[in-house]
Amino acid sequence: MKLDFAPMEGVTSYLYRNVHAACFPGVDRYYSPFIAPDGSGRFKGAALRDILPENNRDVQLVPQVLCGRAEAFLAVSRELAAMGYREMNLNAGCPSGTVVPKHKGAGMLADLQSLDAFLDEVFSRCELTVSVKTRLGLESTAEFPAILEIYNRYPISELIIHARDRAGMYKSAPDLAAFAGAFSTSRASVTYNGSVVDTVSLERVLTVAPTLERVMLGRGAVTDPALFRVLRGGEALEREELREFLSRLERAFLDAGLGEHYTISRLKEVWYYAIDKFPEAGRLHKAINKARCLEDYDAAVSALFSSGLYDASAAFRGR
Ligand SMILES: Cc1cc2nc3c(=O)[nH]c(=O)nc-3n(C[C@H](O)[C@H](O)[C@H](O)COP(=O)(O)O)c2cc1C
Repeated sequence: MKLDFAPMEGVTSYLYRNVHAACFPGVDRYYSPFIAPDGSGRFKGAALRDILPENNRDVQLVPQVLCGRAEAFLAVSRELAAMGYREMNLNAGCPSGTVVPKHKGAGMLADLQSLDAFLDEVFSRCELTVSVKTRLGLESTAEFPAILEIYNRYPISELIIHARDRAGMYKSAPDLAAFAGAFSTSRASVTYNGSVVDTVSLERVLTVAPTLERVMLGRGAVTDPALFRVLRGGEALEREELREFLSRLERAFLDAGLGEHYTISRLKEVWYYAIDKFPEAGRLHKAINKARCLEDYDAAVSALFSSGLYDASAAFRGR
């Protein structure tokens, strides 16, 4: 089974990816959080740092682009090709209320004629291999057969299906029946995505798609960074492994010059998910969230790790 790490804006930056790869080798591909081109055709600042090849030497990275205009997408593809990338990913799944009305992300699924025109332009001119990360629809997963008919017209290298509609945001139960239908009719090879957090949830997906070969893990892997190993039959995440991972992450943020406050806020994003390894940790999680300086943050984390609440088998609980 091939296992990829999902893009998660605000969490899986290059610093996170590198520390993760060093501590938990075995991820097949990492996807960058989306890059939204500003029209200049050039990457800048944090977006540039995130995909610079020298910042991603030890990981297999697929850069992802969020963009509704073929011209802008193609401009980015040229920039990525110049950096040595061979593949890029189109985001057709972002559910954000600031993105969808602009016909980007999951908003690309609103008008299938425009989607078709976009893909036609991209696939006739793009030098890179293009994969697509999509939802099953905007308002309903019943929209997907018509959407897939469009995708099936193009040589998409991989169709990553987040098995929810946009209306379900990150909360609705993945629609496994709709996924199974898509899996059997997609021309492109398919990756499953959505709420795989442990072996039980993976089994549920494999029941409807027994020949599935690739799965993408998001929140479940931020809660349990050893999930890739666990799903391949390896050992559960040990408490000390998690402590070491988080402390290396803290060091990596500081060494990269992120500064104390920004480092703490980035770590709190990770803790939003990782806290699920400590059931009933309400008060101790609050102490982490209240920390304003590294001394308080480190003390709160230490208290949590000494609390005896750690549960190696606990998984992301969904919210
Ligand atoms: C905080 C957060 C940020 C995300 N950022 C991105 C992103 O940049 N690009 C993208 O395609 N999906 C993004 N996603 C969606 C995830 O990649 C994934 O599709 C979704 O979380 C479902 O998978 P999971 O249940 O394994 O987490 C994000 C999700 C979350 C919760």
